[in-house]
Amino acid sequence: MALMRPSIPIAPRVYPVMIAMAAFSTSSILAAAPPPTIKSRRDLPKKTKKTYKKKANIVAVKKPNPGERKAFRKRIQLSNNSALPVQGLGELSVETLTSHESKGKMFAIPDQVVDQLRALEAFKTTQTWNLFRRPHFLVREEVVELMRKLEESKGKKEALKCILTGSRLSGKSMALLQAMSHALLDGWVVFHIPEVFVDFFRLQLTYFKAQDLTNGNTEYSPVAETADPMLFAQPVYCLKLLQNIYKANKAVLEKLQLQKDWSKMTNLKQGATLADLALSAKESEYAWPTLNALWTELTLPGRPPVLFALDGLAHINKISDYRDPSFNEVHAHDLALVRVFVDALSGKTALPNGGAIIAATSENNSHHHPSQELVLSQLEAGQAGKEIPKPNPYERKYDERVYDALKNSFVLRLEGVSKEEGRALMEYWGASGLVRDVLNSRSVSEKWALGGHGNVGEMERVALMTMRM
Ligand SMILES: *[C@@H]1O[C@H](CO)[C@@H](O)[C@H](O)[C@H]1NC(C)=O
Ligand SMILES: *[C@@H]1O[C@H](CO)[C@@H](O)[C@H](O)[C@H]1NC(C)=O
Repeated sequence: MALMRPSIPIAPRVYPVMIAMAAFSTSSILAAAPPPTIKSRRDLPKKTKKTYKKKANIVAVKKPNPGERKAFRKRIQLSNNSALPVQGLGELSVETLTSHESKGKMFAIPDQVVDQLRALEAFKTTQTWNLFRRPHFLVREEVVELMRKLEESKGKKEALKCILTGSRLSGKSMALLQAMSHALLDGWVVFHIPEVFVDFFRLQLTYFKAQDLTNGNTEYSPVAETADPMLFAQPVYCLKLLQNIYKANKAVLEKLQLQKDWSKMTNLKQGATLADLALSAKESEYAWPTLNALWTELTLPGRPPVLFALDGLAHINKISDYRDPSFNEVHAHDLALVRVFVDALSGKTALPNGGAIIAATSENNSHHHPSQELVLSQLEAGQAGKEIPKPNPYERKYDERVYDALKNSFVLRLEGVSKEEGRALMEYWGASGLVRDVLNSRSVSEKWALGGHGNVGEMERVALMTMRM
């Protein structure tokens, strides 16, 4: 992929979208956008007063980026002083998660790693961090299996390509978080696209429909010199991601010097590091080329392994909400950032230093994803030595690109934890002062069974949520 600035002329700061839209054939987009539903006076189109003041007099008020307000409201609480501190549990180290000894035990996440995971947005609101004094997690058998594969990929210098699947709240995002923790402790560089990424598709579309032309956040732009298919960058999202990557991986990136010449897009001096590169994008229009440059540098031989994790695989295996200049729908795989991920997952891009591409997906998606479901069921059957399911001859919505992206992956299923693992969790809840029942094998079995045979989310609901009332 050629690294170029976005083809769209650099817009004056205040009106980037207007420029972008002009390049997108404004009339067709506006004509095709359905009229907004009007429910109250506030929804009526407002008259906008035209001002012809000189640009120098305009002070752009910075609105929060899409999702920022929500992110603040949803800021994840990682400690709770009303919970008891739990004594006697180990702290995670680089050996912990690859060791069979750790199975069925709880470990504290070191503070440094907590900060890095926070920067990567690895903690989720669906998890119960807010009830405990400090973050701990359970190491379950499947996680040790996954981490051993991570270690193996580093030794063999070959990417692990893995998809985590299972029912809702079965611990897939937790396994991703654990993979990130292990990688960070082991000096890897970690990229993570959290599930909220999807909100960006929607929010951008909402803003777009609202024709909020001065809001630079609606920007998405064709990547220069791409055609057939044309790729699209999401500058605002990429800038945020780049900043998160920098924060989480600063210590490693600062030790790595640039090997390629990026002088066309940055003014970095000789001897500059990957940290300097990540920091060089101050404006969103440079975010995608910079992120791509960073990825290119990291996939040169002689670098540390990389982990690229993504939560919510189904969201990228579909047609996006974006339109191209001729108003055709854009396949999510043609969003440049998604493309980097998909190419690494399919094996098209090699990771010469080892590393892992891991995606999590829930089996309880509200939409049907025929190709994803087919390929995952085939891979799982193949791994288990069972008969490979055949495509449904009546299914019309198979998507070859999705199939190709996933067909080289290893599928790891996460369902309920074992009774022993469930017991370790409940003992931790008890020691935190959160479970009043006496823990014995009967009460453990009962909660384990009530919680859908060890579904962690369900067990939490049964054992923890009830006491909130
Ligand atoms: C702290 O824990 C208590 C239960 O022990 C809970 O009621 C409260 O909501 C928690 N605080 C936060 C900020 O989540
Ligand atoms: C999720 O899907 C599985 C299998 O498709 C089903 O058994 C389970 O009840 C679903 N769970 C929820 C919470 O919808």
